[in-house]
Amino acid sequence: MPDVELATDTSGGASLQRRGAELTVVVPTLNERANIDLLVARLHKSLLGINWEVVFVDDDSKDGTIAAVRDIASHDYQVRGIRRIARRGLAGACLEGVLSSSAPIVAVMDGDLQHDETCLAAMFETMRGGGADLVVASRYGDDGDANSGLSRLRSGGSRLATHLARLLLKVPLSDPMSGFFMVRRDIVDAVAPRLSRQGFKILLDIVASSPTPLRIREIPYVFGPRLHGQSKLDSLIVLEYLGLLVAKASGDLISTRFLAFGLVGSAGVVVHLSVLHVLLPHGLPFTVAQTAAMFTAMAFNYTLNNTFTYRDQRRHGWRFVTGFAMFAALCSFGVVAGVGVSTLLYTSPSRWWAAGLAAAAVGSAWNYITNSAITWRVR
Ligand code: GDD
Ligand code: MN
Repeated sequence: MPDVELATDTSGGASLQRRGAELTVVVPTLNERANIDLLVARLHKSLLGINWEVVFVDDDSKDGTIAAVRDIASHDYQVRGIRRIARRGLAGACLEGVLSSSAPIVAVMDGDLQHDETCLAAMFETMRGGGADLVVASRYGDDGDANSGLSRLRSGGSRLATHLARLLLKVPLSDPMSGFFMVRRDIVDAVAPRLSRQGFKILLDIVASSPTPLRIREIPYVFGPRLHGQSKLDSLIVLEYLGLLVAKASGDLISTRFLAFGLVGSAGVVVHLSVLHVLLPHGLPFTVAQTAAMFTAMAFNYTLNNTFTYRDQRRHGWRFVTGFAMFAALCSFGVVAGVGVSTLLYTSPSRWWAAGLAAAAVGSAWNYITNSAITWRVR
C-alpha cells in the first residue's frame, strides 16, 4: 500500500517527488494574484502526508497571477501553472487543469480562499478508501452555509438553480453549483469531450454527462467571504447555466449554443420588422427598405452572436469586420437554401405557413452550422 509507506516515509519530500502526485488540486484563476501565496501555504498545511500538487489554470490575468504562480513554482515542485491565451471560461479552465494531471484523484477549488481547504484531507480519505467516485463540498448540507459568502440575491438565485437542476436532471446533489469537489480523474477523462467549457457548472455537467451513475458523497462546509479581488459571476453565466439545463434535459439534442443562436435570431426578426415599420411610411421603395432592414438585422445578429453565443471565440478589431463579411455571406446562402426548400414544399396556397416554417428551419440550421464551423470555428 503506497499510502502506508507515505505515512511512515522518513526520507521526506525527495522520495515523494519521485513517486508522482496522488492528488492534483486544480485552481482556476482570473485576477487572483493577491490570493496565490496564502492558498499555497494553506494547502501545504492541510495536505501534510498526502502526495499532492496544485495546478493553477490562469486565463491570462491582467494582474500578473501567473507570475505569482511561477515565482512559487521556481522553488516548490508541487506548484504548476497553465497560462491560457485568448480564452475565457471557468469550466474550460478546470477541465484543462484536470486533463493536465496524471494523478488518480483530482480536486477542483476556487483560488480566492472562499473554499475551506481544510476539507480536502477528509475528502481525499473518502476517495482513497474507494468509498466514492466523487466527493462534493456542499454549502447546503446540515452544517454547510452559503450565506456568509454570498449576497442575499446570489444566495436565492443559487438555491433556485439547485432546485431546477434536481428537478430537470435528477442529479442527486444538494449543491450542484458547487465549485469545490474531488473526483476520480478517469471519470472526467471519459466525459471530457462532451463537457461544456463555459460558465460555472462543471460539476453538474460531469454528473449529468456520466454514462453510469456516480457514487457521490457530500461533506458540508462554510462558504467563506472573499478577501481580495471580486467575483466574476454575472448574469450571462446564469443564462448559460439555464442553457446547460435545457441541453442536458434534452439529452444534448439542443445545445446551449444553438439555443443562444436561436434566441438571437428571433430577436433579429423583431429588429428586421421594426426597421421596415419605421422606414416604409417615409415613402421609400420596398426593396430599399427591405435591404436596409436585412442589413440592420444581420449586423445586430452578428454583434450579439459574437458577444454571447460565441463569446469564447469572440472576434475583435479587424477580425470583427472580416467576421461580419463571412457571416453575411453565409447567411445569404441560408436565404437561398430556405427559399429553395420552401418553393419545393409550397404545394397549395393554404399551406403557406408550412413552407414558410420549413424555410426558417432550413435557413437557421444552415446559418448555425456554417457560422459555427467557419466564422467562429467551434466544433
Ligand atoms: N481561469 C479562469 N477563467 N478562472 C476563472 C474564470 C475564468 O473565466 N472566472 C472565474 N474564475 C476563477 C476565479 O478567479 C476564482 O478562483 C474561481 O474561478 C471562482 O470565481 P469567483 O468569481 O470567485 O466565483 P464566485 O465566488 O462568485 O462563485 C462561487 O460560487 C459559485 C456558485 O454560486 C464558485 O465556487 C463557483 O465555482 C460556484 O459555482
Ligand atoms: Mn469566489
